[in-house]
Amino acid sequence: MPAPDLDPNAIAAIVEYVYQRYGIVVPPERKEAFSAELGRIQIGAKLGSMAELASRLRQGGSGGLELQLAEAASVNHTSFCREPDVLSYFEEEVLKKMNPSRTHRIWSAAASSGEEAYTIAMMASQHFGPQVARQVVAILGTDINRSCVDQAAGGYYSAARVSGVPADWRQLYFQSEGHRHRISESLRNMCLFRRLNLKLKPWPFQAQFDVIFCRNVLYYFDVPQQTDLAQRLYRQLKVGGWLFTSVTEGIRDLGTKFVPVRPGIYRKESP
Ligand SMILES: C[S@@+](CC[C@H](N)C(=O)[O-])C[C@H]1O[C@@H](n2cnc3c(N)ncnc32)[C@H](O)[C@@H]1O
Repeated sequence: MPAPDLDPNAIAAIVEYVYQRYGIVVPPERKEAFSAELGRIQIGAKLGSMAELASRLRQGGSGGLELQLAEAASVNHTSFCREPDVLSYFEEEVLKKMNPSRTHRIWSAAASSGEEAYTIAMMASQHFGPQVARQVVAILGTDINRSCVDQAAGGYYSAARVSGVPADWRQLYFQSEGHRHRISESLRNMCLFRRLNLKLKPWPFQAQFDVIFCRNVLYYFDVPQQTDLAQRLYRQLKVGGWLFTSVTEGIRDLGTKFVPVRPGIYRKESP
């Protein structure tokens, strides 16, 4: 069995590859953990050296290694009902003002394991009722991490994960299955999950969105990548549409046409 080799040049080459391919900057404090993950990938793939892993990735065509690399590079921390102030603005000023006779496309652009998308679905169900909510909102959740996307689609969460959901919502929108809790079918039917690299150009969308949640992912990227992503998000929104970032991720200084509304909340007011 090959031993993991922590050749710094090969690791630096993979860190650069991760930046070019996913836009993710591996920060110094994560380098050690990331290198250990790379070691595991190298051993798992029975590659003789880290340089061989770097070269396989550069050659492309190795989907399995790509998926593992994306998982190693991404930090997937998320939770239900995260950043309640932003969510309550969304509820009062956006969701409750939606026209119930048309479908509004909502994109959770770094969905991780689906908690953000399902939180939006719960809010819509609360306001419109489960039947109407399905016609009023269609939620797409995307992420680069395949395991996260699969978990989101399955809709299973541990008791610890659902502990942040209000008790009445837990009753209404989750079924207990042993130690796990599954999001109800009506909410799963409102959400679709797909693997998507935000750096992919062009994105494979047929239509623009009414609302985009792109929270807690911009900090992965450096300023040129953030600017590029913010401009592309702008183009992907309808005029009058909304962008929600995290309150700690300002895009004001990136020179886009987004109009800042509140910390973490932006509007597209012109084409
Ligand atoms: C910290 S989580 C944020 C989840 C959720 N939006 C929230 O605020 O709770 C960041 C997510 O961004 C994803 N991500 C990082 N780089 C990405 C890229 N280039 N394309 C798509 N997703 C990416 C990670 O896999 C991770 O699941």
